[in-house]
Amino acid sequence: MPLTIRSNRSTLTQFLIEERRRHPSASGDFNALILDVALACKGIAKAVAYGELAGMTGNYAADAGGSVNVQGETQKKLDVLSNDVFMQRTEWAGNLAGMASEEMEAPYQIPAQYQRGKYLIVFDPLDGSSNIDVNVSVGSIFSILLAPQDVIDSGRDVTDADFFQPGAKQMAAGYALYGPTTQLVLTVGEGVNGFTLDPNLGEFMLTHPKMTVPADTQEFAINASNARFWEAPVKRYVDECLAGKTGPRGKDFNMRWIASMVAEAHRILMRGGVFLYPRDSKDPSKPGRLRLLYEANPVGMIMEQAGGRASTGELPMMSVQPTGLHQRIGFVFGSKNEVERIERYHAEPAPTTFENPLFAERSLFRD
Ligand code: AHG
Ligand code: MN
Ligand code: MN
Repeated sequence: MPLTIRSNRSTLTQFLIEERRRHPSASGDFNALILDVALACKGIAKAVAYGELAGMTGNYAADAGGSVNVQGETQKKLDVLSNDVFMQRTEWAGNLAGMASEEMEAPYQIPAQYQRGKYLIVFDPLDGSSNIDVNVSVGSIFSILLAPQDVIDSGRDVTDADFFQPGAKQMAAGYALYGPTTQLVLTVGEGVNGFTLDPNLGEFMLTHPKMTVPADTQEFAINASNARFWEAPVKRYVDECLAGKTGPRGKDFNMRWIASMVAEAHRILMRGGVFLYPRDSKDPSKPGRLRLLYEANPVGMIMEQAGGRASTGELPMMSVQPTGLHQRIGFVFGSKNEVERIERYHAEPAPTTFENPLFAERSLFRD
């Protein structure tokens, strides 16, 4: 067991104070908000770690027939608990003008007994929650925006439209990953830093300063059971990866699928890779699986801040103008050169010739 009390690593608090010294005009509200978010994540980490010992696995209100969120998904007990913890830990301090969550249909108004502040927080309280019951990593994802000026001036209730800000406007983004260790990964727009929760001290310690995503990779992540619904550029990209050394890429690829996007993001941040949950034709009412505000924008900002890239496949994710609180979108992120390649495939005109193997390269009919 390490004698962490003698460690000279920075705590999250120390890191934030040192960052703030570089911005002398900052009020401190922002740091206070991040520390409240970190406390929420510590609480959720504990609930996740106790699992069934605390009756924390399974669906919410299963005896009452279960509960379905605005996404049309069955809520797990931990989805609901994590959402409550996030709200409770961040609503009271006077830093927030309002919040929006994957688990709540409408924006949450800061109750009258508390002051209202200048920031908006948007979160996926528990990502990958289908993995809870099988004891695989899950996480929380959050994004912090500045509220529109009239919200700050008037303290009025927030509306959906107040959250419709492109990812490039995010003030900060991060996630907590509840895996073998609990980690908090944070960007405040000046690179990406990773902290590991010291279980003895209950503090997040800076263990992964200045994280970067390698530009190249031989690892990709996609739910291949959707292959028949993919668009041609995605199919082409994956086919080329699968063809390995003997295909046009001339190298073998490895594949991963955890089904917790936050855990895939963390792997990619640590060692590179590319993740795709592209727009597909599976359900025409859902242009993609993942949500722009709660998932794609925060993870996209982290990737870009770490030198990676985040895209819809066609456009930089950070440039997308949101039009709905729970809007879904195709999401491709990770190692820059791979994401750029996928964007190139989308930009190229779709091949018009019928791909009969007899006429393909190295066929009987080619010279
Ligand atoms: P959430 O648990 O917040 O609803 O998100 C789950 C998401 C994401 O984490 C993951 O990559 C994806 O759904 C899994 O999709 P499949 O069910 O297609 O594997
Ligand atoms: Mn999610
Ligand atoms: Mn979720």
